[in-house]
Amino acid sequence: MKPSANALELSSDGDRYFDGLADKFSRSLYNAPRGELRLALLDALLPDMLASLQADAPQRLASTSTVLDVGGGLGQQALWFAQRGFQVNLTEPSSDMLTHAEKALQSRPELAERVRCYPLALQHLSDALPGPWRLIVCHAVLEWLGNPRQGLRQLSELLAPGGELSLMVFNRDALRFSNVVKGNLQKAQEDRLEGLGLGQRLTPISPLTHAQIEAWSQEHGLKIQQVAGIRIFQDYLHQPPQGVGELERLIALEKQFCRREPHWRLGRYLLYTLVKAS
Ligand SMILES: C[S@@+](CC[C@H](N)C(=O)[O-])C[C@H]1O[C@@H](n2cnc3c(N)ncnc32)[C@H](O)[C@@H]1O
Repeated sequence: MKPSANALELSSDGDRYFDGLADKFSRSLYNAPRGELRLALLDALLPDMLASLQADAPQRLASTSTVLDVGGGLGQQALWFAQRGFQVNLTEPSSDMLTHAEKALQSRPELAERVRCYPLALQHLSDALPGPWRLIVCHAVLEWLGNPRQGLRQLSELLAPGGELSLMVFNRDALRFSNVVKGNLQKAQEDRLEGLGLGQRLTPISPLTHAQIEAWSQEHGLKIQQVAGIRIFQDYLHQPPQGVGELERLIALEKQFCRREPHWRLGRYLLYTLVKAS
């Protein structure tokens, strides 16, 4: 599908929809070792970090248990939940991404029937899919919003009391670290870390700190239940893993240390389980 005419612009809310980026996103992330690592880490962490995924959780036992996937992108996470027996509402404002997600779903017909796709931005969900939801997934989306603080408030409003939000955000502190390691010293010194959201660059417009998530969670009635770092080592390797054996070893190390001090704090992404007060 062709990018829309305004593919290189921000939405009226100042958000960066991924129109025109689906191919690049798919190639540069999910068809590369860092995407493999991200999926392997999420696969290992989510069952442990989300009470909704425990075998005896009420939402596991109900046949109608539904996950709301906000900014679901190419649909990997939706498929993951569908595979575990959940119904999934995949919401995504970029028609380019949604078309790719629908194609991915078509190749898994046995799972596709559990996933419904909606061409919606987070800002429209309170009208279109108000819930309240017992489980919301919002991975790698807040950093693409013009106002991520308001985005977290909107997510909280969609959650049922006691409901869980699996939130993953791009870590501003890790971005600074990698800029320094790469020699972008002036940029780091001037704290010019955010991308512009224009063109084909995939540096987020609103990279976030753990301190912001802590403060905003409290503001919006959410409690941080769990936290982990995703890609705590990989971005700092002097050379990519050589062969399958090394990649496996790296994944094992990432798994071993992703929830330990001080390593989780420098994960490229921070993964949280947030619970809404009942
Ligand atoms: C980095 S991708 C993440 C996709 C997917 N969640 C994943 O983890 O692979 C960011 C996604 O957020 C979407 N997005 C941008 N603004 C949004 C908004 N206001 N509401 C919902 N999604 C949005 C983009 O179109 C893009 O598909």
